[in-house]
Amino acid sequence: MQSNEYLYLMENEEETYRLDIKTDSKVVKKQALWAGIKPGMYVADVCCGSGKTTSMLHKLVQPGGIAVGLDGSEKRIEYAKEHYGVKDSWRFGALSIMNIKN
Ligand SMILES: C[S@@+](CC[C@H](N)C(=O)[O-])C[C@H]1O[C@@H](n2cnc3c(N)ncnc32)[C@H](O)[C@@H]1O
Repeated sequence: MQSNEYLYLMENEEETYRLDIKTDSKVVKKQALWAGIKPGMYVADVCCGSGKTTSMLHKLVQPGGIAVGLDGSEKRIEYAKEHYGVKDSWRFGALSIMNIKN
C-alpha cells in the first residue's frame, strides 16, 4: 500500500529488491564526490528507493552531516529502515512528492 497516491510505472513486487541490487556502491561514491558531497552537509535523497544510496550518502557526510531519504512507497521505506536505517532514526520517511505544495 502507498502512503500517498502516485503512479510509478516500474512498480512490481520485486522493485525494491531490483533497486537495491542495481545500486553499485563504488559508482554512487564516485558520483557523490564528483557532485561535491562533503562531511557536514545535509543531503535529501528524494525518491530514495531501497535506501542504499541514502546510507552511502550518510557515510560520506560524516562527521556532522545528515542524509534523509524520502520515497512515496511505504514498502520501500520499511525496507530502507530495516536494511539501512539506524534504529529509531528519522533518516527515512514515506512521502509522495506529488503532495508537496509550495
Ligand atoms: C527508479 S526508482 C529510483 C530509486 C533510487 N533513487 C535509486 O536510484 O535506486 C524511483 C523511486 O521514486 C519513487 N517515486 C516515484 N514517484 C514518486 C512520487 N510521486 N513521490 C515519491 N516517490 C516517488 C518510487 O517509489 C521509486 O522508489
